[in-house]
Formats: sequence, C-alpha cells, structure tokens
Amino acid sequence: MFLNVILAALVASVAAKDSRTFAVLQHYGKGPLTTCRADPVVSPGVPSSHLHTVMGASNFGLNATGASLRQSQCTTARPKADLSAYWFPTLFFKDPIDGHFEQVEFFYMNVYYFFEATNDKIKSFPVGLKMLSGNAQLRTAPTTTGATNMDPSKGPIQPASITCPRSSYDPPSYPVNSDGSMAGMVDPNNKGEGIGFPFQDCDGYASPMRVDLHFPSCYNPALSVEDYKNNMQFPTDAGSGKQDCPAGWIHTPHVFFETYWNTHKLLPRFQSMIGKESPFVFANGDVTGFSAHGDMISGWDEAALQQIIDNCDAGHAGMHTCPGLIGGVNDPSGSCNIECPVDEAVSGNLTKLPGNNPLAGWKYGTAGGSGAGSGTADGTSSSVVQLPSTTAKSSVSSASSPPATTLVTSSKSAVTAIVSTSSKSISTPPIISSIESALPVSGSLSAPVPSVTGIPTTSKVIATASTELEPVSTVVSGGKTSTVWDTTTVWQTTTVYGDATASAGSSIAGLAYAGCYKDASNRVLAGEIRPNLGRISNTLCVTYCASKGWAIAGTEYGGQCYCGNSLTTVEKLAESECSLACEGRAGETCGGSWALSVYTKGGVAPSAAQKRHEHNHFEHHRRSAAHAHRRR
Ligand SMILES: *[C@@H]1O[C@H](CO)[C@@H](O)[C@H](O)[C@H]1NC(C)=O
Ligand SMILES: *[C@@H]1O[C@H](CO)[C@@H](O)[C@H](O)[C@H]1NC(C)=O
Repeated sequence: MFLNVILAALVASVAAKDSRTFAVLQHYGKGPLTTCRADPVVSPGVPSSHLHTVMGASNFGLNATGASLRQSQCTTARPKADLSAYWFPTLFFKDPIDGHFEQVEFFYMNVYYFFEATNDKIKSFPVGLKMLSGNAQLRTAPTTTGATNMDPSKGPIQPASITCPRSSYDPPSYPVNSDGSMAGMVDPNNKGEGIGFPFQDCDGYASPMRVDLHFPSCYNPALSVEDYKNNMQFPTDAGSGKQDCPAGWIHTPHVFFETYWNTHKLLPRFQSMIGKESPFVFANGDVTGFSAHGDMISGWDEAALQQIIDNCDAGHAGMHTCPGLIGGVNDPSGSCNIECPVDEAVSGNLTKLPGNNPLAGWKYGTAGGSGAGSGTADGTSSSVVQLPSTTAKSSVSSASSPPATTLVTSSKSAVTAIVSTSSKSISTPPIISSIESALPVSGSLSAPVPSVTGIPTTSKVIATASTELEPVSTVVSGGKTSTVWDTTTVWQTTTVYGDATASAGSSIAGLAYAGCYKDASNRVLAGEIRPNLGRISNTLCVTYCASKGWAIAGTEYGGQCYCGNSLTTVEKLAESECSLACEGRAGETCGGSWALSVYTKGGVAPSAAQKRHEHNHFEHHRRSAAHAHRRR
C-alpha cells in the first residue's frame, strides 16, 4: 500500500512535462495518397460534398475506420507504424480569364506532433480516433482579428490560418484594417500569417502558400472515438507554461497540419488581381479561405506512438529519425498512392468544382454559404447540387497503381525562374556584408537560430528576408508587380556574391571547398544521401560528413546534404551554378539545382568512382520544411 503511494507519486512526477517537445511526421512518395471526394469522418459511406487531398494509409476510403486503416498495405508517412489518414480541402485556382477551375499543385504536407508541457501524462491516440478541426461552413470572418487562438479561456477557438511567406511585406499581404468582410485579416503579431486568402503572391523562398491547422489534444474517453463532434477539446492554461486536459480526459499529442500549395507558380496568371482579390478557392466553394479545415483518423500503432511521445524530440529532423522507433521506416524512394473510389474528373480544367459547389464569400455573398459545400454529414443542410451523380468504385486499387492524379511537381521551376529573373533584372548586385546584422530587433521576432525545443517562427524567417531586402528593393525597383520578383532576386544575388568570397579557400572540419560540381538524378555523391540534419548549412553538412569518416561532403539545392568518398561522375560547373541560399544560414550558398557545393580533403578536385546507385529523386523536389516554420 505504502509502496503504491510512492510509486504513484513517482509516476505523477515522471508524467509532468516541463517543456514542449515535438517531432514532425514527414511524408514521402509521388503526390498525395489520393485526391478524392471522400470524408470517412463527416460523410461515411457516401461521396463527400467537396474534394479532399488525402495523405496517409492506403485503406483510406469512404468507410475507413481505425481498424481498416491498420490493415493498409502502405502509407505516405515515413514511420511505418503510422497508418493514419489525414485530409483537407483541395485548393483550386479560378482562372480570371475564363473562370474555369484547376487544382493548385499540392506541394507537400508536414504533420507536427507537439508534446506540450503539461501536468498530464501524454498518451497515444486510441486507434480509430476521428478528429476534425476548422469549420468547413465558414464564409464570413470567424473573429475580429487575424490571430489564431487555441486557448478556450482567451475567447473562441480559431485553429486555422494561412501563412504567406513573402520576400517583402510592402505592400502588406492583406488590406490594412480589413474587417474580414471583403478581404482576409493579417495576424497582428505576424505579417506573414492571417486568416483568409491573402491578396498578394506568396513568393517566399521556395515556400508558397501554406494552410495551417491546429487540432485539439484532449480526448474524452467517455465518448466514442467516432464521436468527432464532441470527443475532443483544446487543453487549458495550467500556469507555468503548461496546458492540461480536464480530469479524466486523455491528453494526446497536439497535431498541427502544414499543407503547402504551389500558388506562386500561377503568378503570371493572376498578376492582374494582386492587391485586389484572390484567385484561390477551397474545394467547398469558399473564396475567403476562412473555412480552412482538416480531418484525421488515427491508425497509429499505439505502442509505437507512445514510444515516440515518451522518448523523442526529433523536431524537424522528423519522427522517422526517433531513436528506438518501433516498426521501421518506409523507403523514401517508393510511393503509396490509391485511386479515388469516386469516379469523376477532378483534374484538368473544370467548369465546376467537383460536387458542383457554388462559390460563396466576399463578392459572391454568403447566400447558401453556411451550408454550401460544407461537408455536413448527410448533406441535408447543404445546397450542394447533385451529390450522388457519381458512381462509387467498388474497390480501391493496389498501392502500386498510379495515383488518380499526380499533383506534385518540382519546386525547381519557381527557383529557376527567380534566378533567371535575377540575371536579367540586376546587373550590379548590391553587396550586403552581413545579412544577419541587418536583422530587425522588433518585438515579435526572435533570434535566428531556433532553440532546442522551440519552433522557428515564420515571422522570423520572413522578416529575415524582408527586412534585409526592403531597402534594397526600393533602390532597385520601381515597378509595382515586379517589386516582388526584384526583391527575391536581390536576395539570391546577394547570396551569390557573399558566398563566392566566403567559400573559396574556406575549410570546415578538415574539408576545404573544391568548387561547384554537377549532380544527376542517380546522385554523384552517394555515400550518404540527405542525412537528416535539419536546416542545412555548409558547416552542418561538412561537419557531419567528416564526423562519419567521409572524405567528401556536398550541399545542394539550398537544403540538401550528401556525403561520400568519391563522385561517380566529375563535372565542374561555373561557380554561378551553385547559388542557392542555405536554408540554415543566410549569406551562405548551398549548391544549386543539380549542382553540389563540394568540400574535399585539402580542397582538391574530387575523383571519379565506378559504381553508382539508382535513387528516386522525388525528394529533390520535396524540399525540407525547414525553410518556413512557425511559432507555437
Ligand atoms: C460503406 O458503408 C455503408 C453502410 O455500412 C455500406 O452500405 C457501403 O456499401 C459501404 N461502402 C463501401 C465502399 O464499402
Ligand atoms: C487550362 O487552361 C489554361 C489557361 O487557359 C491553359 O493554359 C491550359 O492549357 C489548360 N489545360 C488543359 C489541360 O486544358
């Protein structure tokens, strides 16, 4: 008895967590799992009112449950133990010329698993837990500010926002003093974030428009895992930076979706709308962006997730790097895709949104908006037309089948475009001697290096770029729409010059810079490919490779690291080919598109090797999330 009391006290003290830890769930493969008018949380058994982009396990379908997901053949998640499904409304572009709709390329998704500071014991999701966050029915502003709020004691929950990283916030992303009735509203603490679609192009370096969504993390075990309308709520402030769940509830991980959409690629087609309106619309017909929402069914192996919760603080390196991970890691060169069970056209140029959802919000008014395309369970309150006009396919294809739609393409085009604009528009690039010294000291910004447990903030990353660049861009450019491009350009160009002097002759951990070398899809430096190091700098990559005994290290495409003892083919490139800024260090360059900044012993030219490996290079396009993070 006495012993039990002591044990209980011990357990209680072990359970309390003084600071937040987290691990990002990364995905791999070609495109999303599927793009499909299915929502097994809100509309089980029937096509949902609007189209979703879906990530996760292959048994996703109209009737997916935790038990069926657990039987999946594959998943888009790196850890094999995660057979959950994650989905959210597909983002469409409405062509301003003829009004047709087309999908915005899905760039990628990160799912943050935050393990908050708490007096509770954080526990795995029960298998089959269904969650929904955000409100698919919103067509009017849910709050009077553009700020998110996850603390019920501080007002209504506002779990969704849109982040629009830009190279300059002049002009602002959202009209100043917007009340939300005709435009989105900026977060008072973060120029790069707000609610609703921004009216500017999100041209942040390799970081297009991002929809952000927080999920509640307190589960009431008295209610069924199916009861998604009532079974979850957000934790409350317990003082000392901790958040607790109500007594008797289960404190689960705090899940946060980041979904990236390649909006910037479409810029030439909505240039005329900049500053005035947005060309984007969610699949449910919402032109405001206020209805950002998402769903999840947990298909986790509970023991595996618990092991991560208890032991892992991998942060951005990814959950698949957690020590002792149960179940192993999926090979990123593969892909997991399924056909959508609803047979209808969802790609190409469409005259109507799938499900025929009417547009609503802002200039379209809110008539029918409260139900339109909302994804209500039975569609009764919905003005969605012709819901059942499609046929449900009897079976989901095997994981090796091609995806119904292939959405993800290279982020290279955007980057290349920026670089080429740069050479055109600027003949004499200004030289900024120290980019970091140009950082602002204003209140909302924190230090450039993320703390161990914190999340680097979006505002910081963006402000780094904008504050450096604002003065430069006013010097360089007069044009209204070209300002954005010029601003980005200056950044790129500045970096090129900064690096040319910095890397020549520079030596890190015994390896010296040897030049810029061509890479290929089968990887010329293949001893260790893209070790998970977080935001890459030359120092980080070279130090790591040297510590593992490799003779050569190379950085590429701004955020990738490679180690090896030789290059399979040796082709030296002009220094200008290695001109992309390092994600982890402003003012330094880390290779370029298919170009490696190579470091060798003594800086001597690397030699050729005979053998090579075939590697899928899809991840080349799927850049680390590290370039744009957020607070919280
Ligand atoms: C989904 O469940 C419903 C109701 O249980 C059933 O009628 C339907 O056939 C199922 N659909 C599929 C695709 O399994
Ligand atoms: C869709 O429309 C755009 C703009 O009108 C056009 O450039 C493109 O070729 C069209 N795509 C298809 C598949 O028809």
